[in-house]
Amino acid sequence: MKLCVALDMPSRDENLALVRELSGLDVWLKVGLRSFLRDGAGILSKIKDLGGFKIFLDLKLHDIPNTMADAAEVIAGLNVDMITLHASAGERAMSEVMSRLNALPRRPLVLAVSALTSFKADEFSAVYNDSVENAVRKFSLSAHRAGVDGMVCSVFESAMIKMATSKDFLTLTPGIRPFGENANDQSRVADLSVAKRENSDFIVIGRPIYEAQNPREVAKKILAQI
Ligand code: C5P
Repeated sequence: MKLCVALDMPSRDENLALVRELSGLDVWLKVGLRSFLRDGAGILSKIKDLGGFKIFLDLKLHDIPNTMADAAEVIAGLNVDMITLHASAGERAMSEVMSRLNALPRRPLVLAVSALTSFKADEFSAVYNDSVENAVRKFSLSAHRAGVDGMVCSVFESAMIKMATSKDFLTLTPGIRPFGENANDQSRVADLSVAKRENSDFIVIGRPIYEAQNPREVAKKILAQI
C-alpha cells in the first residue's frame, strides 16, 4: 500500500512548503485541478526537483474518445506517474486512451473514477439510473476490459472491485482518516486498518497530514503503519 498526499493547500507556496517538508519520504503527491490550473504544468517539474516524488495528476478526463486520448497523450508527456479519467465516459473512450498511451515508450498508470463519493444515493440514481454499488461494479468491469490499471473508489468498494475483476487491478481510495480523526466533509471514512483489510493499493490523505502541527511526523507514522 502506498501513501499519496493530496497537495490541496490554498496556494502554490504552501503546497511547495509541504512538499519540502515531506522530502525523502516514500510518498506519492497528488496534484489536483485547482493547483494545475493555477500553477501550470511547471508545478510538476518543480515538485520532481524537490525530491523525486512520484506524481499523481488527478484531472479526471471526461470527453469524447478522441479528445480524451489526445489529452491523455499530452499529459503522458508531462512525466507524471498516474492520471485519472471518468469511467462514465464509456468503455470505448477508455480503450482509445489506453491504446494511445500503450503506443508510447513510457506511460503513466491510468485509474478510472467510478462513482464520485460526494453523490448521495438519490442524486446518483437521478444521473445514472442505477445504484452506486451496481454502477461501481459495471464501471470497474468496463475499465478492466478497456485495459485501465485500476479504479478510484471508496475504501469500502476496494475488495469487491478486485473480486469482480482481478487482484492486480489497482484501487486508490480517498476518505482515509488514518487514526480515526475528524472526518471533515468526507461521509464514509475509514482508518488504516480498514484500508489494509480492503486491500487498497493507494490511500489518498490530505487534511489529516497538512493540517497537522507536524505533517512530516504524521506522514512517517502512517508509513510505519503501512
Ligand atoms: O483532506 P482529505 O484527506 O479529505 O482529502 C482527500 C483528497 O481526495 C482530496 O484531494 C479530495 O478531492 C480527493 N477525493 C476524495 N473523494 C473522491 C475523489 C477524490 O476525497 N471520491
